[in-house]
Amino acid sequence: MKSRRNFVKTALAMTATAGVGTFSTLRNALAASTTDSRIDILLDEPRGTISPDIYGHFTEHLGGVMYDGIWVGLKSKVPNIDGLRRDVVEHMRKIKAPVVRYPGGCFADSYDWRDGVGPADKRPRRTNFWNGAENDKSPANHKFESNEFGTNEFVHFCKLIGAEPYLAANVRSLPATEFQHWVEYCNSPAGSTTLADLRAAAGYAEPFNVRYWGVGNESWGCGGNFTPQEYAVEFRRYTAWLPQYVKPLSLIASGPNTDEWFWTREFLQEIARKGPGQLREIYGMALHHYAWNLSRGKTNDWEKAKGDAIQFEPVDWYELLREGQRMEGLIEGHWQVMGEFDREHRIKLIVDEWGPWYRPGSEATPGDILEQTPTLRDAVFSALTLDIFNRHCGKVAMANCAQLINCLNSLYLAHEDRFVVTTVGRAFELYAGHQGGQSLRAEFSAPQVRYDRDGQAATFWGLNGSASVQGKNMLLTVVNPHVSEPREAEIVVRGGAISSGSASTLTHSDIHASNTFAHRDAVMPSHNPLKLGGQFVYTFPPASVSALSLQLR
Ligand code: AHR
Repeated sequence: MKSRRNFVKTALAMTATAGVGTFSTLRNALAASTTDSRIDILLDEPRGTISPDIYGHFTEHLGGVMYDGIWVGLKSKVPNIDGLRRDVVEHMRKIKAPVVRYPGGCFADSYDWRDGVGPADKRPRRTNFWNGAENDKSPANHKFESNEFGTNEFVHFCKLIGAEPYLAANVRSLPATEFQHWVEYCNSPAGSTTLADLRAAAGYAEPFNVRYWGVGNESWGCGGNFTPQEYAVEFRRYTAWLPQYVKPLSLIASGPNTDEWFWTREFLQEIARKGPGQLREIYGMALHHYAWNLSRGKTNDWEKAKGDAIQFEPVDWYELLREGQRMEGLIEGHWQVMGEFDREHRIKLIVDEWGPWYRPGSEATPGDILEQTPTLRDAVFSALTLDIFNRHCGKVAMANCAQLINCLNSLYLAHEDRFVVTTVGRAFELYAGHQGGQSLRAEFSAPQVRYDRDGQAATFWGLNGSASVQGKNMLLTVVNPHVSEPREAEIVVRGGAISSGSASTLTHSDIHASNTFAHRDAVMPSHNPLKLGGQFVYTFPPASVSALSLQLR
């Protein structure tokens, strides 16, 4: 039985497989609809501010993410800004990307940050952590790390897009002094230390002021195979003294995988054993949840249970959404456990890896490991996940979609001079307006989706979403998960009235549709003004993500 914990060890055995079946469905876009649903937005029941960081990203030295995806190099013919792919920079500005996590992932616990600073032509070449998972088609610079891209380039990238950097420190294979020195390199004032001088020599005299620091990654697995108690001891040791120039540093502990409640409980228990004050060192606890098991309960084998990214049946569509919907219970469950030790809930959840994970076979660029082509299903998945974060904005302080480009749930795919915004990227565009808004309670009432799950009747919610308000501007985002039925809903705003509005909807007549290098605009949002007056009714098309921008009187 293969598990994700052992994924890296077994990665070599992974082979690209062709998709299952060739199901293709053309939904009846003209299916009859009736107003059988209702959405109540309660203006007078704010749930708290939606941290912009919930709309964060994740980049790793893995496959085509950094090299080819983000970094094309200073001498590249690909349009770039200081070696960074121009298209990525421009699109990330557009979605107001708030934070980017780097350099991993598993890579982080193998990385010596010193390798990636100093003159680029003097930087050492190393074997990349993911080398064992690469294949014959993978280019050499994915297997062997040139360190052309390092801390300076990453922070410069963040500055260009207007995002905060979030660095993950190496706990498995570097001593605690190296964590301290990385903080010192990034944050010590100009001229104050030898490392500040090294930074200045690269053209960065002013400190980077990096606030977010991850203390290892997946410390239960590739980050050291620790028990929660062992990791807690390491966490205390690594964070007992860190140079503080930016106050406070926001330290993020490596947290649980999906529903491993024991990790959350035993880690916090061990931290608090030294005294409850120790809990104050922790800004957030990471939670990772990938939707990978599409076997409908038949197996937990990491390879056998995965589904195909682009060839799937409606039952697989719903199965993926069910796996995504688990996020809500995971947030609530871990939050409850955290409250056993941290009664005031100072520690927040940082969902710094999330997204679907399919078996290999849908790579836009052969040889790019872990790359998959997102379809409409992944846009719907991403939208429902972002809605969950919005609804739980008091608990979730940051989330990072895995991963930004040329990887799992990517917003962008790129190779050489080709670039495309995926369906996931389009969903992020529709949701960007929630950042910093007041999350509002919104009640959704709609008939459930009913479908056959291996001979058993199964259901999924019929309509769901989230609402937020900033001044007079309200944003309502809604997912209709039904593969073939539209849902007509009456929308009621309690405690306010709408004067005007517009709707953007992302959908397609084929649930398998995706944006590719050949068909870059296959799945694009449509934008329409709303007709208001009297009862406000909106029809959510089948398999759709909608964003309704509403102006309040
Ligand atoms: O995102 C790919 C990998 O998934 C990350 O490196 C690791 O943290 C997780 O297991």
